[in-house]
Amino acid sequence: MAIDLRSDTVTQPSEAMRAAIASAPVGDDVYGDDPTVNSLEERVAALFGKEAGLFCPTGSLANQLAIRTLVKPGEELLVETRSHIVRAELGAAATFSGITTRTWPSKDGLLVADDALAIAHENAGPYLVSTAAIAVENTHNFGGGTVQPIAEIEKLATLAHARGIAMHLDGARIWNAHVASGTSFTEFGKHFDTISVCLSKGLGAPIGSVMLSTKARVAEARIWRKRYGAGMRQVGILAAAGHYALDNNINRLAEDHARAKKIATALHAMDSSLVDPAKVETNIVGLDLSKIGISAADLAARCKEAGLWISALGPHYARLVTHLDFSNSQCDQAIEILKRALVVK
Ligand SMILES: Cc1ncc(COP(=O)(O)O)c(C=O)c1O
Repeated sequence: MAIDLRSDTVTQPSEAMRAAIASAPVGDDVYGDDPTVNSLEERVAALFGKEAGLFCPTGSLANQLAIRTLVKPGEELLVETRSHIVRAELGAAATFSGITTRTWPSKDGLLVADDALAIAHENAGPYLVSTAAIAVENTHNFGGGTVQPIAEIEKLATLAHARGIAMHLDGARIWNAHVASGTSFTEFGKHFDTISVCLSKGLGAPIGSVMLSTKARVAEARIWRKRYGAGMRQVGILAAAGHYALDNNINRLAEDHARAKKIATALHAMDSSLVDPAKVETNIVGLDLSKIGISAADLAARCKEAGLWISALGPHYARLVTHLDFSNSQCDQAIEILKRALVVK
C-alpha cells in the first residue's frame, strides 16, 4: 500500500465517520429542510463569530461565492501571488463574476499587511480598477502551510476597512493555523467580512466546505449557489461527516504537524538547502530542490517507484502534506524513501 502525501485531501472516511453519515437525519436542503446541514451551518458560523453559514461542496465554491458578495463586476480583488484563489480556481472569479484580480508577492506566503495595502486602490474609477476586497489565505498552501500572524491580519483588516475595502479569509486550513498558533477561531474570524473553511482537508471529511458571513451575504450566496447548480438535497449525510470531523479531528492536527516537522528535520540534516524545519509550522513540507540537482518531477517519480506519492508543484519545488491516514511508522518509512530518492545518481 503506497504512502500518499500528495495532499491532505486523500484521506478515507473512518468507520466512525461512516456510521455518523449513515445515521444522519436529512431533508431537502434546497427547501432549508435538512436538520444536519442547518446545524452544521449554525455551528461553524458560531465558531467563527459570524451570523450565518452556507454548506458548499468545495472550498473553491465557498471562496467564489464569498468573493462575489464583496466585489462587483469590473472591480478587483487583491490576493497574494501564490494563493489558491488566483492559482488554482481556474479563473473562476473572472469567468463567473467579472472580477479582476491583482497580486502582491510574498516570502513563503507570509502576510505583510503593507505589501497588500501598497497595491490597493479603492474608489479609483473611472480611469482605474477599484479595489473592493483583499483575500488572505491561512494557512498558506503553496507557501508551505504558513500560519499568518494575527497582528498582521489585524493591521491589514483595520487599515483596509478604514479605506472601505472588504476582507475575505480563505481558511481551507484555518484549523491547522488554530492548532499551530493557539489563536481562537473567533479571533481569526472577527477581522473578515467573509470566510470559507474546508472540512475535507486536514479534518478528513470526504467533502464539504462552509462559507460564512452576515445573514444578508449568506442569503445572496445561497441564491448564487443554486444558480451555479450546487443546490443540494438530502446532503445532511455529508454535513454529518463535517460534524464528526469538528468533534474529533481538530486537536489531532498537532500529530500531523509533528510528523511534518520530523520529515523536515530529517531532510534538513541531509541537506540544509532543502527545507528549513523552523518554517514547517503545520502539515505541509515544501522542498526546494534547486540546489540538489534533481527536478521535482524526477523526485516524485523516484519516490513513487519506492511507494511514496508526493506532488511536484514547480520545476524544483516538491510538496508533501501529512494527514490523518499517515502514521508514525509510515513517517519513518517516508523519510527513508525520500533520503534514498534525493541522492543524485
Ligand atoms: C488554500 C485552499 N483554498 C481553497 C481550496 C479549494 O478547495 P476545494 O478543492 O474543495 O475546491 C484548497 C484546496 O486544496 C486550498 O488548498
